[in-house]
Amino acid sequence: MSQRAQLDAIKPAQRSRLRELALAAAENSYSPYSRFRVGAALLLEDGNIVTGCNVENCSYRLTSCAEQGAIARAVAKFGPTLRLRAVAVANLNRAASMPCGACRQTLTEFGDDDTLILYPGEGGRDEETTLGELLPNAFRPESLEPRDESR
Ligand code: THU
Repeated sequence: MSQRAQLDAIKPAQRSRLRELALAAAENSYSPYSRFRVGAALLLEDGNIVTGCNVENCSYRLTSCAEQGAIARAVAKFGPTLRLRAVAVANLNRAASMPCGACRQTLTEFGDDDTLILYPGEGGRDEETTLGELLPNAFRPESLEPRDESR
């Protein structure tokens, strides 16, 4: 399927549903430090949807983003071969927000340039882009090949 066809196959109602599920997931956010409550909803190639929320820690750098929590849940539930068709992120702070740099890399492990990203833009507008737009020229699993077998 072409990139256009692949994106068009995700209908407006399904996009709205993913945004709703991401927002609902944010209700469970554990974010006493930032008070920024984030949720994510992943649409997998097989149609399954998995959600996650951010989980912070008093040792701040141990914080897990909503996208990362959702990926961990998805792999635990559906196994390591899962692929991402779309990812919605949402927050309860009415803020414009995109996946952070670390999450872009995490999503790239299981997605591709055509993976649809739904996010809240300025003024509460529903915005969308692709993973390829968010992380061009990404370091990918294939980047590790060929391995140096001499050591
Ligand atoms: N956060 C996410 O969950 N996802 C992102 O893509 C951006 C940031 C969380 C991490 C932290 O708990 C809070 O938002 C503030 O950075």
